[in-house]
Formats: sequence, structure tokens, C-alpha cells
Amino acid sequence: MFSKLRPLIFKVDPEKAHTLAIKSLKFNLIPNVFDENKNDPIFQTKIFNTDLDNPIGIAAGFDKNAEVYNPLFKLGFGFVEVGTITPLKQYGNPKPRVFRLVEDEALINRLGFNNHGSKVIIDRIKSNNKLGILGINVGPNKDSDDRMNDYLVGLRTFHKVADYITINISCPNTEEGKTFEDPETLNDLLYQINLVRKTDKPLFVKFSSDADYVVLKELTDICLNHRVDGFICSNTSSNRINLKTELHELTTIGKGGLSGKPVKKASLKNVELVRSFAPNSVVIGVGGISSGEDAIDYLKAGADLIQVYTGLIYEGPSLVKRIQTKLIEYFN
Ligand code: FNR
Repeated sequence: MFSKLRPLIFKVDPEKAHTLAIKSLKFNLIPNVFDENKNDPIFQTKIFNTDLDNPIGIAAGFDKNAEVYNPLFKLGFGFVEVGTITPLKQYGNPKPRVFRLVEDEALINRLGFNNHGSKVIIDRIKSNNKLGILGINVGPNKDSDDRMNDYLVGLRTFHKVADYITINISCPNTEEGKTFEDPETLNDLLYQINLVRKTDKPLFVKFSSDADYVVLKELTDICLNHRVDGFICSNTSSNRINLKTELHELTTIGKGGLSGKPVKKASLKNVELVRSFAPNSVVIGVGGISSGEDAIDYLKAGADLIQVYTGLIYEGPSLVKRIQTKLIEYFN
């Protein structure tokens, strides 16, 4: 059904289409096609003493404001990561700021952490009991005087309601100058985080797909020294290599983070590397997963869990069921 609707949906501006998708989920307008496989015992996984129905999650950026995590659980996701959430509400970058690269089955976005802010979102979560595992992804405000403190605000605000917290250090759309992917800055950030952190709350760090071996090793070691529990590989990419989309179109679009099929190779490599650097940590693989085979590639590379985002835009909501079906075959 989605393949018939897709040409129509793709006539709508990508950000408007996303707003429509959120509204449709809120009002339960998307048919519930997944539930039958969701609780297949083969998927039952334990991560940090928490039971997961299945290892397929929805990545940060889809439900930025924690408005539809329960409808997403009902669609079959084993876990939902909301955010990135900043302490104060912010509009993000000027529109247009999301672009489809249809030939590449990819997106470029430079949303810039648009979100309702931590106060509104914590109230929303408290008044809406979660039906599954909820990750909360936090980051700093663009105009903040103290970006490090913004992460601490996120942690303090959400640690009680989150099943895990993700420190997003890898958004290509917000950072200027020295970023938290700078080893010394990350070291300082994690030192501060450990002063306020409740140790029972799993902490993840999300890496960029553009990090190379040396950087990734250094950042992973710093995280391990600070008792980070897990890693998410990876965020969007600033690269534009090997794309089918014409150069002039890419030039017109301009800056932003690339996601979808073209990022899979680099992200998969990162999963492999981080798994080898941190054999006992939890690794969540994300980037360009648009089929069950892609998901299996990530599990083989060492991911414990996977997340999807752009694949959902191109394949529609039945992607989750297709991945589940393939994984059942794989685990058998
Ligand atoms: C994202 N992503 C993202 N990640 C994050 O940590 N915080 C965020 O706010 C966002 N926002 C966001 C918006 C849009 C429109 C997209 C497409 C992506 C990155 C996302 O979680 C994921 O890491 C990458 O998109 C790679 O996965 P896919 O999309 O290739 O499956």
C-alpha cells in the first residue's frame, strides 16, 4: 500500500510530510500491521536488566518532542529514542531544511535541534505512561552560554523517566568551533556528567558516521574511562561521496547531515570498530537500514540492537515487519 502512496507523499515538502506522519500516529491513523511478530520469544533480549520485545528501534530525530512514542511501540518497535531535546525550546535553522535525495534513497537535513524544550517534554512524558523502552537523547541549545551544562540539565531532567540517556555529540547541523567530538572536550563533558549521573541509568554516546579509526578509538577509550555503557553508531554524515544525485542539486541543497542508504557502509564500519574497542558495551547500529538484510549486516558487525529512520521514509511502516520476519529466519 505504501508503494502506491509514496509518489503522493513525495509531492509534499519533506518536513510537512513528517509533521503529517506525527499527526497520523497521534490519532492512530496508521494501520497497526506489526503486532503479530512483535513478541516472538526469539526476540526477547535483555539489555541492562531491561526486557526488550525486539531489537528494532526508531532512531532519534523522528519523535523529537516525545509526542508519539506509544503509537510507535504499537507499530512494533522494541524501543523508541526521542529527542534530541535541549533545555530551552528552539526553532532550529531556517526552512527549507530537510531534502529528499530520491535516487539515493537518502535525506539531507539541517534541522538544527528544533524541539519544544525539556520542560514541556518532561511534563508530556510524565503524563503519558510509556508502553516500552524509552531512550531520551539530549543536546545543547544553539545560543547557550554553557553548552556543557545543557547536557547536565538534560540528564537531571530526564534520568528518572528514561530507560537510557543518549548524549548526542555528533550532530553536524548545530556545532560551531570546537565540538564535543574533540577528545579533550568530551573528556571534560563526561567528567561533569559523572558528577551528576545516577549510575543505574544506562548512558549512551552517539558518534558521527564520519569519525575515522583513530578518532573513534580515542573517543571510545575516553567513554570507557568514564563508564559510558553503550554507543550509537552512527549519526548523519557531512560527506557527499558516491551519490547518484547530481552535483548541482547537492550544491543547491547545501549543508546538512546525510542519512539513508549512502551512509550504511561507513556506519557499519564504525559498529565493527567500536565493537572491537568495547567488547563488553552495548552497541546500537543505525544508518541506511532499509531491509532485513541490512539489519542482519549490523548484527553480524557486532550491533546488539538496531535503529531505523530514513528507511522508514522510503519503505513505509511495513519495514518494521519485514525486518522482524527476516530476523526470525536469521535467529532460527
Ligand atoms: C536525524 N538524526 C538525529 N539524530 C540525533 O541524535 N538527534 C536528532 O535530533 C536527529 N534528527 C534527525 C532528523 C532527521 C530528519 C534525520 C533523517 C535524522 C539522525 C538519526 O537518528 C540517524 O542517526 C541517522 O539518520 C542515520 O540513520 P538512517 O536515517 O540512515 O536510518
